[in-house]
Amino acid sequence: MTTDLRWPTYPLRKTILTEGVADKAEPGQGSAYVRDAEGTVYLDAVGGIGCNPLGHGHPKFVAAMHKQLSRLAVATGSFWTEPQLELARQIVERQPIPDARVFLGNTGTEVNEAAIKQVLRARPGRDVIIAMERAFHGRTLGSIALTANPKYRAPYVTCLGESDKRFATMNVARIPYGDLDAAAAMMDKYKGRVAGVWLEPIQGEGGIFPATREFLVGLRTLCNEHGALLGADEIQCGAGRVGTFAAWSMLVGDEPELAPDVIWFAKALGGGLPVSACVSSAELAEHMGRGSHGSTFGGNPFACAAGVETLRIMDEDNLMQRAGAQLPTLQKIAAEDPHPRVKDVRGLGSMIGVEVTGEGDAPAANMAALLQKHGMLVTVCAGTTVRMLFPYGAGDSILREAWRILRAALDEDAS
Ligand SMILES: Cc1ncc(COP(=O)(O)O)c(C=O)c1O
Repeated sequence: MTTDLRWPTYPLRKTILTEGVADKAEPGQGSAYVRDAEGTVYLDAVGGIGCNPLGHGHPKFVAAMHKQLSRLAVATGSFWTEPQLELARQIVERQPIPDARVFLGNTGTEVNEAAIKQVLRARPGRDVIIAMERAFHGRTLGSIALTANPKYRAPYVTCLGESDKRFATMNVARIPYGDLDAAAAMMDKYKGRVAGVWLEPIQGEGGIFPATREFLVGLRTLCNEHGALLGADEIQCGAGRVGTFAAWSMLVGDEPELAPDVIWFAKALGGGLPVSACVSSAELAEHMGRGSHGSTFGGNPFACAAGVETLRIMDEDNLMQRAGAQLPTLQKIAAEDPHPRVKDVRGLGSMIGVEVTGEGDAPAANMAALLQKHGMLVTVCAGTTVRMLFPYGAGDSILREAWRILRAALDEDAS
């Protein structure tokens, strides 16, 4: 099979992935390995870009999916289903916003759009959202306006200061990530116009940068002072990846007065199936009346059962805690056996970035292909940083293997 009839939207790797490698998994667990059509086995640090918290083919997850599929796979948002009610309950209980309500979708960008609509509806007359440099919030037109990279945005939307073309009634003003003074200055510049402030508590696509507690709490205070709403995009960093359900809880804590106003999750939430959730207080939820947002597949019983079972397995197998241990373990391995081209091993929990040095401003640009040749699948962020998003249960031996492969690839690249 050599013909690719898809749009060329993704950089092409001529690899057909066929299955998780069950015999390389711990008994009763999912696998961190995948096999391609030619039989080559890879250590999978792409994990569907963060959508594979349980590993491939976790037996209990597979069994739960079979069971739900044979009971009820579809309904619409006009009806409740048991898995949907249960998933909504679990998400509301686990995230930091008090008295919360949830909108269920399929993809990340869809719940980012829900958050945009909610914030603009809740602050009528205000048109500006402050977003971050290096931010990534998705590729539909609202989300893309908040995404930083102009390569993705042009030719659809522009940001304030770039031109006088605008997207709908939303204008986006951009500040450097972590710069509280810039946030305060922007609030003053657009006084009375700022509806919300948008950020990833840990930037993913931008290069794996966790925010400091000081920055997040500072933004909370600033938003309170200016009547703006604070939105946290946890699509990549949330759903247990850093050791707590919300990365916000790990970075800031669970004090209700410090919580963001809106927080949204996707990727790992469905254990490999498309499930996403946008959460706000009940009061803010009131701004999203009938027809204000919707999704035919959003919250369908099959996907919600996947979410419920994913959270159940995470609890049963202690997976969030194990995810939380990954970065310190890899940092220890890296410190024991450093490589001169590795500048930084950073992130939080199992959201890991390895920044490499080299010629030019994208020294890691060829690392995905090179690492694949050496037996590991990764994505590269910002041209500088190898991103590793392993299943949450991946421990010392997998991380040692990852480090060995990374070192071998860097050595080959240098030679
Ligand atoms: C932080 C963040 N927001 C939004 C998105 C968009 O999610 P999706 O591709 O599911 O629409 C992503 C995807 O990588 C992401 O990492």
